[in-house]
Parts: sequence; C-alpha cells; structure tokens
Amino acid sequence: MTTLATTALHAADSPRPPRWAEAAERALARCERLARCSERADVLVRRALTPALAEAHALLREWLEAAGLEVRVDALGNLRARLEGASPQTLLIGSHLDTVPDAGKYDGTLGVVLALSLVEAMASEGARLPFSIEVVAFSDEEGVRFGRPFLGARALARGLGPDDLALVDADGVSLAQAIAAFSGIDEADVPAAVAACALRGPASDERADLLAYLELHIEQGPVLESLDLPLGVVTGIAGHVWQSVRFEGRAGHAGTTPMSLRRDALTAAAELALAVEEEALRSPGLVATVGRIVAAPGAHNVIAGAASLELDVRSVDAAVLERGLVAIEAHAESIARRRQLGWRRQLRFEAPSVRCEPGLRALLADAIRAVGVPVHELPSGAGHDGRVIAALAPIVMLFLRSPGGLSHHPDERVHAGDVALAVEVAAEFLRRFAARFAPEVHR
Ligand code: GLV
Ligand code: MN
Ligand code: MN
Repeated sequence: MTTLATTALHAADSPRPPRWAEAAERALARCERLARCSERADVLVRRALTPALAEAHALLREWLEAAGLEVRVDALGNLRARLEGASPQTLLIGSHLDTVPDAGKYDGTLGVVLALSLVEAMASEGARLPFSIEVVAFSDEEGVRFGRPFLGARALARGLGPDDLALVDADGVSLAQAIAAFSGIDEADVPAAVAACALRGPASDERADLLAYLELHIEQGPVLESLDLPLGVVTGIAGHVWQSVRFEGRAGHAGTTPMSLRRDALTAAAELALAVEEEALRSPGLVATVGRIVAAPGAHNVIAGAASLELDVRSVDAAVLERGLVAIEAHAESIARRRQLGWRRQLRFEAPSVRCEPGLRALLADAIRAVGVPVHELPSGAGHDGRVIAALAPIVMLFLRSPGGLSHHPDERVHAGDVALAVEVAAEFLRRFAARFAPEVHR
C-alpha cells in the first residue's frame, strides 16, 4: 500500500494519463443517470426531500458503497459518506443534489459525482489517507422548495431554527413535515433529528475536527470560456440577499376603469424590475435579478390589486451590495408613492460574501500548474454550500469551464476533457494537502 502523500507528482507538460479520461467518462455517465431522478418526466427538477432525491440517493449509495465508503442520509436529506483514514480529522468534499426547475445535469450534481471519482481514484492507487474523508451531497442548496437556500448545509452548521422548520412549500407542506415524511419519523422528533445533523456534537469544536471543505463545480458563467481555460480557482463567493417585495393597489375592471384612475400593482412591479436592472447595469460589481412576479387576483380582465416580486441581489463587495439594496429600496418607495400604492418588503435570506482560504487556493493553484494548465482565479457570483460551511472550516473551490456560460438551463454542459483535468487536479490537490497535513510521511 502506498501513502497518498508520497505518490509522485505529474510533470507539468506530460501527456495526461488515460485513467482521468476514463474517470470523466464514468462521472458524466453518472450525471446522465442521476438526471433521470426527477419529479417530472419532461424536465429535470429535483427539490429537497422529494422521492426524486431519494431515488438519486439510492444510486449514489450503491456507487459510494462499492468504493468502500460508509453511507448514511441525515434528517435533512443530506447524503453523507465516510472513508475513515488514519485520523478522525476530516476533509469534507461535496456539492448539492437538488436542482432548480427545468435544470441542467451538472450544477451541483457534477461536484457530488466528482467527489466519488476522487475517492475511487485514490482507492485505485491503494492510497492510505492520513485523515478521513466525508463526501456530502447536500439536499437543499438552491432553496427552490422552501424559498430559502442552503437548508442542507445549514443543518450541518447547526444553523437551522424553528422559523426554518415552519417554512412551507407551494403545497403548504412545512419543512418539519417534509423532514418527517422523508425520514419516516414523527414530527415531534424532527428538532432532535435536525440537531443530530450537525457535523459534531454540541460540546465539541468543529474547527478542530474539520480540516477543510473542497467543492468542484461548474463555473455557471462565461469567464473561463472567454479565456480559453478549462479550470479556475475560486477566490470567494459573492454576498447575497433575497427579498420579496409586494405592491398593493386596487383591483378593478380592465374595461371600465380609466387609465388615469388605476392603482395597478403589476405595472408597479414591472417598473421596479426595470429599475433593478438599470441599477445593476450602472453599478460595477452588482448583479440584481427579478426572477418571479406573481399578480393577484391574476385574470386578464382584472387590474392587478397586488403583485409580489422575488428579488435576488449579489456582489462580492459588501459596500456595493449595500448601496445596491439602498438604491432599490428607494426605487420601490418612489414607484409606490407616485402610483399611490402600498408596498412592503420581506427579507427571505441574506449572507455576506465569504472568501476561499488563501493557503488552500495556493495549493489548488499548484495542483493546476502541475497538470500543465495556466492558473486563473475568479470570484463566484453563484451561491454554493461552501458559503455556509465556511463558518466551520476553511473552504476551497475548483471551477470547471461552462460552455456558453450557460447554467440554470437544461442546455447546461461541460466538456469531458475539462472533467478529466478536474479529477486529475483534485487528486493532485489531495496529495499536496495530505503532504501538508502529515509532512513526516512525505519525507
Ligand atoms: C445557486 O445556484 C444560486 O447561486 O442561486
Ligand atoms: Mn444552482
Ligand atoms: Mn450549484
């Protein structure tokens, strides 16, 4: 048996060994297979705590157990697979299994599948790890089902409270009820089951036991492709605010109410959506999106008496984010006043930006150089589970180029060659991480 930390490094310019292309082929076939675990037959949608998620778990369990990992699913529906090493100190590797509606096959899923590829690659080297590995497939990163993201990771970080358990989905099912149904437990036992998802018992120090969190993810944007690069090192994850904004006017007859006498909530929402777009266009570093507007009562011949919009605002720069939010609030206020409407907003979720740990970023950059690829660092505008796990451990992320920059779309793709490089780089990173963790075995 070799020691992981002593495995030879690749020369930077050598041709890539075929095993990585084979690993990539297996990983992509698994993504295809997992894409069939969907709540709908026509499009891919797999939300937290659904039968489709359980179906995906069954497949992953089989693959992970075959690779020698011990698998369990916690109450939140996070699948967790452990490979014990010489020390209980743990490197967490993962991503999420839930998707947006009409999703692509790779956002989150590819990172989960590549964590498995990495473990398989080590097993094929007969590598003995100086630390343990836990592969995590988070159950809810997107926040689609309950309107609040990162529920899975927040359970690991002991961040879920009674207000989270009371969230309801579009069918009126609360998170607590969904957990009870998914785990087959009584609703009264849900708080204790959620507490048990925490990475360590309440008395222990997570930072002492968790070495780091590694995530591989598609970029979901156009930057790497524009630079003709397959991979990138993530510098940090943008700060992020979700708000609901509701305008209240007066419903009325679409044929008889003169235009000058209307208090139309839907046109106010539309005006705010345009103002949000303009604000972001003139604020470098700010992105802001209205992804949903719901008008009530919602008939073609009725002026909308109320309209709610869902707003997503992000920046890696906290000051830019704050300025953007203040400006958007001022727009909402002035639109409501001019149109004689009531308005209110509700904060649904907020998280500050987090940075990936500089030492681990350097290690990942070294691993990229070692396979002969130029290093490029870039921030992530998308949210990732690492944002939450950063409270427990240093995080590091590798991005894979997204062809066409496309994501949250069924045509989302990834190049097989980039996937092969990503597994090879991750294996290289692991060797370097192990050497740093246990330098004596590297001598
Ligand atoms: C998750 O993909 C997000 O950034 O919204
Ligand atoms: Mn996503
Ligand atoms: Mn994702």
